[in-house]
Amino acid sequence: MRLLNVLSSALAGAAALKGVAALPRAVFSRDASASAQDISSNGILAPKVFIISMFSPEAGAWYGIPDFNVLAVNITVPGLSMLFPDIHCTDDGQICQLTTGEGEINAATTIASLVAYPYLNLKQTYFMIAGIGGVSPEVATLGSVTLARYAVQVALQYEFDAREIPANFTTGYVPFGTTAPGEYPTSIYGTEVFEVNAALRDKAVELASTAVLNDTEAAAAYRAHYASDPSFAAGASGPTVVACDVATSDVYYSGNLLAEAFDNTTTLFTNGTGKYCSSAQEDNASLEAFLRAAIHGLVDFSRIIVMRTGSDFDRQYPGETATQHLLYDYQNGHVPSIANIYLAGVKIVEDIINNWEDTYEAGITPTNYIGDIFGTLGGTPDFGPYGSAPASRRSVEVRRRRRM
Ligand SMILES: *[C@@H]1O[C@H](CO)[C@@H](O)[C@H](O)[C@H]1NC(C)=O
Ligand SMILES: *[C@@H]1O[C@H](CO)[C@@H](O)[C@H](O)[C@H]1NC(C)=O
Ligand SMILES: *[C@@H]1O[C@H](CO)[C@@H](O)[C@H](O)[C@H]1NC(C)=O
Ligand SMILES: *[C@@H]1O[C@H](CO)[C@@H](O)[C@H](O)[C@H]1NC(C)=O
Ligand SMILES: *[C@@H]1O[C@H](CO)[C@@H](O)[C@H](O)[C@H]1NC(C)=O
Ligand SMILES: *[C@@H]1O[C@H](CO)[C@@H](O)[C@H](O)[C@H]1NC(C)=O
Repeated sequence: MRLLNVLSSALAGAAALKGVAALPRAVFSRDASASAQDISSNGILAPKVFIISMFSPEAGAWYGIPDFNVLAVNITVPGLSMLFPDIHCTDDGQICQLTTGEGEINAATTIASLVAYPYLNLKQTYFMIAGIGGVSPEVATLGSVTLARYAVQVALQYEFDAREIPANFTTGYVPFGTTAPGEYPTSIYGTEVFEVNAALRDKAVELASTAVLNDTEAAAAYRAHYASDPSFAAGASGPTVVACDVATSDVYYSGNLLAEAFDNTTTLFTNGTGKYCSSAQEDNASLEAFLRAAIHGLVDFSRIIVMRTGSDFDRQYPGETATQHLLYDYQNGHVPSIANIYLAGVKIVEDIINNWEDTYEAGITPTNYIGDIFGTLGGTPDFGPYGSAPASRRSVEVRRRRRM
């Protein structure tokens, strides 16, 4: 009951704030055992860890586990997906989880709504984006756990149909404002690349590496097809935890040529630092929403972890066609990738909770640049055109208009 009272008074107080609409009835439900002890004194929930899932199977990895129950408290947050309208939290409010819905639009809208919700204090919260994704057999495999420093919006380019690509182009994708593949984009949208805290990422790799990862015979059988190409040694081996970067694209691309083209794009956009290994449809969108919130101090951009586990390969194995591989073959990566979200992720969540005072409350100081291509959060990006003399937002805007 105390939780209910604390939150009720928070709701009453917050509803009085200028511009905050009264909450709908029954904004949250809870089980009878909910305790208020860890809810901060102002009555606003301040989770230590927030797990970000993108669709039901990723969310399901966290339900019914022995370690904690995130379905103890449900809170409906305006702006979340109609399919996933609630955030879910443990009864002490320390660990929360939500599901964004799939693709860049769902991810950006959900995270933008979350960070604007007035009854949550997310200033010290660690966010763990924890989803499945495609993996490059050059770096990882079915069931691998990849943890990124960079997220790159690889399909933010001009695209020509394959039948109209000039013979001297290596791909049909051409960066905005340029006239050939491989040239650095000159028309910058600001979401091309996000860089997160590498020290936190490395810590997450260390923690995830203590997990015994799941694998299945069916996944091992598909993986074995990759053994004939020595450059796919990682793809043919069992799953491990790998530090490498994620590509974001609403287009679910597949096949040798697009995988190689977007691997090249990752290298180009990150000025050679990024190491492409996984593909998904949301991370840059979620990161843009977090970045905009960080400008106003609503979240700490140095507290974001981007984890993707391998559910499928981004390209076919030698001798297979790209379409057969994506549309008809059973790659069998789904089971271990979902299992490993939990197995690896729970090590990270528990370390944050158990070592909050010693390590995490104060934050893990980044030693790399963090933020976007504009340098919005300060510091000098180690990628993009504004590295040496960060452009003002106005000059960025002018540059973009000129190109359009
Ligand atoms: C929270 O929502 C989930 C379904 O999304 C449900 O299974 C669970 O029982 C709900 N918890 C409470 C306390 O109502
Ligand atoms: C491709 O060829 C066209 C003309 O044939 C030329 O203008 C263009 O610069 C070439 N592009 C590249 C990337 O080589
Ligand atoms: C997407 O985010 C990654 C970092 O997480 C960043 O490296 C990449 O540039 C971003 N791309 C776009 C287009 O926003
Ligand atoms: C992997 O997870 C699946 C599904 O939960 C389970 O059936 C299987 O036994 C697990 N394998 C290992 C090696 O833990
Ligand atoms: C990727 O870059 C390499 C090296 O520049 C180039 O040889 C290759 O053709 C590119 N691949 C694609 C698909 O653009
Ligand atoms: C990144 O590479 C582009 C050209 O590809 C260059 O113009 C830019 O200055 C580089 N940025 C940094 C920070 O090195």
